[in-house]
Amino acid sequence: MTVGGGSADYVHRPVMLAECLDLLNLHAGAHVVDFTAGGGGHSAAIAEKIAPSGTLFALDRDEDAIAATSQRLRAHIATNDVRVLRTDFAHAGATLHSVAGDITGTLDGALFDLGVSSYQLDGPRGFSFLRDEPLDMRMDRTAGRTAADLLETASGDELFRILRDFGDERFAGAIARRIVERRVRERISSTSQLVDIVKSAVPKAAWPKDKHVATRTFQAIRIAVNEELQHIEEGLNLAINLLKPGGRLVVISFHSLEDRLVKQKFLSAAGRAPSPPGWSPAAMVPRNDVPVLEILTRKPVEASAEEVAANPRARSARLRAAAKV
Ligand SMILES: C[S@@+](CC[C@H](N)C(=O)[O-])C[C@H]1O[C@@H](n2cnc3c(N)ncnc32)[C@H](O)[C@@H]1O
Repeated sequence: MTVGGGSADYVHRPVMLAECLDLLNLHAGAHVVDFTAGGGGHSAAIAEKIAPSGTLFALDRDEDAIAATSQRLRAHIATNDVRVLRTDFAHAGATLHSVAGDITGTLDGALFDLGVSSYQLDGPRGFSFLRDEPLDMRMDRTAGRTAADLLETASGDELFRILRDFGDERFAGAIARRIVERRVRERISSTSQLVDIVKSAVPKAAWPKDKHVATRTFQAIRIAVNEELQHIEEGLNLAINLLKPGGRLVVISFHSLEDRLVKQKFLSAAGRAPSPPGWSPAAMVPRNDVPVLEILTRKPVEASAEEVAANPRARSARLRAAAKV
């Protein structure tokens, strides 16, 4: 099925589905939130597991994902209470409250399959350096500033920090300087302009062999535009609050920054490590002294060789799971 005019098949194979279902440990009648519905692949499989009489809230900030998931879950409405809701992690608590009242401590399972979907990557929102497209990069196209706006308004220093911290880019300084030089002459509004800038800033001898030279820059700007790391913190805090004792939290991440955040949150909520520096003081989860999670995956689980062969995107997937104490 193609949604929203893109060429991609939105209903891609859900990543690490068997491992997710195993660790979510669902039963008929269970209550679950899928915080990243995407094309509805994980949600549909969850809906089957919790039937009959389960409750599934499938959330996403992207309207195309909401359309795709609504369609995908139609078959499950007769057997379960299914709600597909457009919201982001930061507003998910209020959204869930508005449709279901106070569900604190009631969930059997919560799932996060983080990052961008293949549909989003396949365009035409400027997530990919492989085609010439407008530099938007917003998952939610109704809110926030586009990547082009960010490149226009951020200071050179901010750009440097975004590229260094969210892209781990060695040439962050040179790329930030080129962006600032270029935007004096013209607005940087297309992916091809950004690719040119990166190519001109990174010496050819240092171009990576195994990936496109602009990969890190695109990742960094996408993370900044969508405030992805901040959202993960808020989403995990909310999920932990909503789970009932024994309820399962499963998180799949696709790059080391995400995975590090998830790992730190798990350790901190399990009472095994200090909260990460800069962790929001408004965090709703008791820290360190009162463990609220038991970690079920000592090391992150990786996709099987068969899955990676069938779906290269699964190569970087890292799955962590925990149970509410
Ligand atoms: C990898 S895809 C999920 C794919 C899905 N599990 C499936 O089976 O089709 C990630 C989804 O999470 C959504 N997303 C990412 N960050 C979000 C956030 N902070 N709030 C809400 N949705 C988010 C994206 O819009 C995207 O649709």
